[in-house]
Amino acid sequence: MIGRLNHVAIATRDLAKSAAVYRDLLGAIVSAPHALPEHGVTTVFVELPNTKIELLQPLGEASPIAKFLEKNPNGGMHHICYEVDDILAARDALKAKGATVLGEPRIGAHGKLVVFLHPKDFVGTLVELEQA
Ligand code: CO
Repeated sequence: MIGRLNHVAIATRDLAKSAAVYRDLLGAIVSAPHALPEHGVTTVFVELPNTKIELLQPLGEASPIAKFLEKNPNGGMHHICYEVDDILAARDALKAKGATVLGEPRIGAHGKLVVFLHPKDFVGTLVELEQA
């Protein structure tokens, strides 16, 4: 069902400092910050040869990563995103096998349909599926 690793998302309270770690310490190519108010985050993309790292900083009052950063004040891995060919078929198959799908597929930060899966069913990791 799952295909390529699309990205790993890391939450941070300090986007500039975190981007500098990837750029200056790890020598990666790092984008300028993008504000995504409809998703409650500002992102920096770290381009790697085989995937991306997305650094996420809360934006606005109701940011979906605010709670995570309360529990993880130094930041940390927030979710991992796998590509699927057909997100509705993937959702239905996972639901049929008893997995907890969080909400309905919606347009994500890359303009593609995404849906999240509850960490309790996925080895303690929040999983995002993105329609390739
Ligand atoms: Co993501």
